[in-house]
Formats: sequence, C-alpha cells, structure tokens
Amino acid sequence: MNSASDPATNANMINWHEDIRKQFPALSQRLENTKLCYLDTAATSQKPQIVIDAMQHFYQQDNANVHRAAHTLSARATTQYEAVRHKVRQFIKAARFDEIIFTHGTTESINMVAYGLSACLATGDIILIDTAAHHANIVPWQELAKRTGAVIKPIPLDEHCHIDMAAYNELLALKPKVVALCHVSNALGTLNPVKDLVTKAKQQGALTLVDGAQAIAHMTVDVSDLDCDFYVFSGHKMYGPTGVGILYGRFEALDRLLPMMTGGEMIKTVSFDATQFGDLPNRLEAGTPPIAEVIGLGAAIDFIEGLPRERVQIHEQQLLQYLQQQLLQLGDISLYGVQTDNNTNVGAVAFNLANEHHQDVGILLDQQGVAVRCGHHCAMPLMHSLSLQGCCRASIGVYTHQGDIDQFIAALKEVKALLL
Ligand SMILES: Cc1ncc(COP(=O)(O)O)c(C=O)c1O
Repeated sequence: MNSASDPATNANMINWHEDIRKQFPALSQRLENTKLCYLDTAATSQKPQIVIDAMQHFYQQDNANVHRAAHTLSARATTQYEAVRHKVRQFIKAARFDEIIFTHGTTESINMVAYGLSACLATGDIILIDTAAHHANIVPWQELAKRTGAVIKPIPLDEHCHIDMAAYNELLALKPKVVALCHVSNALGTLNPVKDLVTKAKQQGALTLVDGAQAIAHMTVDVSDLDCDFYVFSGHKMYGPTGVGILYGRFEALDRLLPMMTGGEMIKTVSFDATQFGDLPNRLEAGTPPIAEVIGLGAAIDFIEGLPRERVQIHEQQLLQYLQQQLLQLGDISLYGVQTDNNTNVGAVAFNLANEHHQDVGILLDQQGVAVRCGHHCAMPLMHSLSLQGCCRASIGVYTHQGDIDQFIAALKEVKALLL
C-alpha cells in the first residue's frame, strides 16, 4: 500500500481508522478460531453501534406509529421520522424535503418509478438501460415495457466495462423516454460519469434514473448537481439498517408518478364514491412506514457525516488498488472491469481464479474466515456480456483495513494451492 513514509503520519492514519473500525461490533468476532474478514460490504455493510443504539432506543422509549395519534409517543416518533427526511435532503442536497420518499430499499424505489410512469409511456417508446445494471434496475423496466408496449434497449459497454459513449450517443439520438443508469456497478465497482450521462440524456428529453446503491456510502452525492430526475439507494449499504431505502425525485418528476401502493396515509379524503390522494411525500408512502429503520438510517447519516470523508475516500481508494495489485501478484487471476492505468473503481473488485468455479473459491475462502460474494451478482446481462457464468467479488467499506486484504490474499493463496 502507498503508505506515507513518516512513521508519525502512519501511526496517525492507523489510529483514526482503528477508531472507526471499533465502532462496528460485528467485526471483532472470530469464526472457528479465525478472524472474521468481511469483504462483502457491497451486499450489505456492517452496522456501527450508533445505528444499533438509535433503533434500540426508539423501540425502548419512543415506539409508536407516525402521523396518526395525538399522544406523546406518536408525536416523538413523527418528529424523529420527519427529521430524517430533512437529514436525507441535506445529505444528498435535494432542493425540497418533499422530494425525499422513504421506501423499503433500492428495489422498491425503482419499482415505484417504473410503475409510476405507466401512464407516461406508449407503444414504441424507448427505455435505455445500462448493461451493467443490477436486476433491480432491469426487471421493473421490463414490466413497464410489457404494460405499455415500450421497448428496452441495453446501453453497450466498451472493453473496459464502461459505457460505450459512441453507442450511448447513437441510442440517445433515438429520443428515449427513460434512461436508467447505475452510478457504480455492484458487480465490478466501475464508476459511471453520471453527470455527463444525465446531461446528454436530458438534452434528448429523457427522464433519468440513477441507481446509487453502490455509490452512496463511498462518495458525496449531490442530486442537484447531477440533475437527474430520480436517484435511489438502500440504507443497508450505507451502514444503516435493512428495510429502508430512498427514492429521491425532482419534484415535477416525482409528482407525475402514479402511486404503486394505495391505502392509508397517502390520501386526503376517502369515500366510497371517490378518493383524493394526498400531496408528496405522503402520496407515495402508503401504510405504516419502516419507522425504526428510518431512524436507524438517520443515525447512519450522522455516522457518515462524522467521518473525515476525504481521508476515507483516499483510504478506500488505496485499499482497492492494493487489493488489485495483490490479486495480480498472486497469479492465475482474471480481474474484470479494472483499468490499471485509469483506475476509477469504487468499493469492489471482481475476479476469478483460473478456471475454477467461483462458488468453490467462495466456499474455501469462507473456511478461512473470509466473506466474499460469488455468483452473477444480480447482473446476469453483464455476466453474459463478459461471457461469464459468474465471478467472485471482494468489496470494502470504511472499516476495511489492510489486515483484511492480507488475510484474504493469504487465504486465496491456500485455495490456489489446493485447487490448481
Ligand atoms: C446497484 C444495486 N442496485 C440495486 C440493488 C438492490 O438493492 P436492495 O436489495 O437493497 O433493494 C443492489 C443490491 O445489491 C445494488 O447493488
């Protein structure tokens, strides 16, 4: 790793990072006498104590339903719940609080947009989708296409697994109605130049959705600057709980969406003759929301905002490069989506060991305490474009340290010795 040569600086680096790592109780456990080496943060991150405490405190002290009752606990729950909406607004720099919709995760957020646009698309309309997209950013659009007669067109990738800009420009000339992009690929960790991609799509009149599930924990996101119509992410990939996500929508774009879910909370008046839906954000939040999870998400934002973010980004970037170098030095390794001379990858490295099956590699790593993800990573079209059945993915978070990478590489060496 490119560590600074000054020992005092090194000690300082280690101290600030160990202080962060100590906040994650799950990381200090041992698995059958080996240290846990958690390299599956892209699937879900570990949770800091502040998030666990916030949710426990809510259930112990403030548990009540939101928006409904005149009593003290409900008022407390509502205040905390709505405070998180304002916190999310600031966190992603949205213009208005009612552009922030609480959902159960990225998958639900994208489904809500795809369903919500049902009346806006017609036969022959084009929906462009990033070939590297997660299935959550493919299947809801396919369902929308079935309902409306719209046509899906994948945006091809170049040899480095980045969007092929020439092909993208050609597809945009067809005047698509929707462009669905990922900010960072979950399978490969490749970073899209989303601002540029969004600008180009908007010039052709398309609505743009950016899936930020793999970006939000690793970089500062400014939706006003990106100028996308929708930006979506999950709490559990940013040190928060499962069961909560965000649908950000530019107000006018969000206001066009038909609600996918109807019922309580989202209405102004109901009679058997007619129902009048409420205003944003309530109109898109039918039923009892994931209250404790929203409060946990608020604590996760506090945690992230309390980090020295520039330092963390440099740390993660150095770790990722170290990981890639160590894998290449091991030999018999194929890396995917890594451009060593222009490395912009974020959070994850995808690899295979010679021709060995990725599941075998994953199971043997697990026996040595190493958690990586193996399979198609919910990105079958991407795997197909790489002529792969699947691959292994090692992914990092703010708590990952060089010791994790060293433990992983030592374990992979053993796997290699066993299998090759
Ligand atoms: C890029 C991306 N999009 C969408 C999802 C789906 O997220 P969730 O399962 O939290 O809804 C994931 C999860 O891995 C992801 O990485």
